[in-house]
Amino acid sequence: LKKTIGAAVVGRHLSSVEQTPSGPAPLYAQTLAREFNVLVPANEMKPKSVHPTAEEWNFAAADAMVAFAEQHGMAVHGHTLFWPQDRHTQEFLLAINDPAALQAQIVAQTRAMVRHFGGRVRVWDAVNEAVGRPGHVRRLLGGATGYEHVALAFRVARDELDKLGHRNVKLLYNDNNIERPSSDPKARVNLVYGMLKDFATRTPRVPVDGVGFQYHIGLGGATGAEWRETAQRLIDLGLTVSVTELDINLGRDEVKSPELLRAQRDKYFGIVQACMQLPACTGVTTWGFTDKHTWLKAFDPDGVGSDGPNPYPAPLLFDESYAKKPAYYGVLRALRLLSTPGPTG
Ligand code: G3I
Repeated sequence: LKKTIGAAVVGRHLSSVEQTPSGPAPLYAQTLAREFNVLVPANEMKPKSVHPTAEEWNFAAADAMVAFAEQHGMAVHGHTLFWPQDRHTQEFLLAINDPAALQAQIVAQTRAMVRHFGGRVRVWDAVNEAVGRPGHVRRLLGGATGYEHVALAFRVARDELDKLGHRNVKLLYNDNNIERPSSDPKARVNLVYGMLKDFATRTPRVPVDGVGFQYHIGLGGATGAEWRETAQRLIDLGLTVSVTELDINLGRDEVKSPELLRAQRDKYFGIVQACMQLPACTGVTTWGFTDKHTWLKAFDPDGVGSDGPNPYPAPLLFDESYAKKPAYYGVLRALRLLSTPGPTG
């Protein structure tokens, strides 16, 4: 396999045990280790988890997941060194109003995280969801382009990795809703392109290795062909691309029809196939792997007319009982590990 296949993992499920017809079994850990070669801690490496208060550092949960990955021959994809949105920034940082003091804290925190994991994390979402979002950190550190805090985070992380001798560790810019091309110059996909083009053409360039496309969608989301067009423009800047958080929400029906499951299968197929067609695409990661545990069940769109959280999004490759869904076979076929379309549910 030339591409990595990853899954985001919630650490506390790794020790969970499910009831099966043949007795209790650790299906979460087993399925993960059997099917994926990259593990992304869904929450445990976030600054808010690792460094919740000025005094506290908390690496235990993340370390346990790194150990699990190493025991099972999986690589670790780190998420994330810097997430400059107010609700993902620690209170003690939001309370700092002096730019130099805030910058010093962010530099220290980024260095400490990189140093702690060293070469055990192969690739980092160095910066997550920064473009277009106003907020405290950007207001203080964004500078004239609005994104000097992003450039700083990449430079600091790269510098620390170089000092440690981990030159092979890759640094990604990761964002959502950037898969589909748009003619609107204000669309996030174009803002990201503009920022990364600026970074690539500075001397010295800002050391971004690649772009992570989260790819949280429904059936109407960007097709593989649309995404390939977006990806190619970034590849032309000298960047790699990866799908980092893929899931495909099937809506609110409690029981999904075969048609819906087939549509999901074909959507997964198209996206993974697009990655296969791009030599600069490093791989695909899904945000979870069993429909039993998905962030979408807790997600409340809370807009006008919203029906609240959806208990049945069924966005992933394995169902609530860890059985392989048609979507699983769609991915397998795109990876050329299966020659038929696979079951239609
Ligand atoms: O662990 C606490 C629990 O003790 C407490 O009772 C409960 C009450 O709210 O909260 C629990 O923490 C939650 C945590 O997930 C663990 O489940 C947080 O509130 C909740 O905000 C957090 O949500 C995560 C979210 O990022 C924000 O960090 C989701 O699990 C995680 O899947 C989601 O992942 C994001 C990526 O990082 C970035 N891209 C989008 C993606 C999906 O939203």
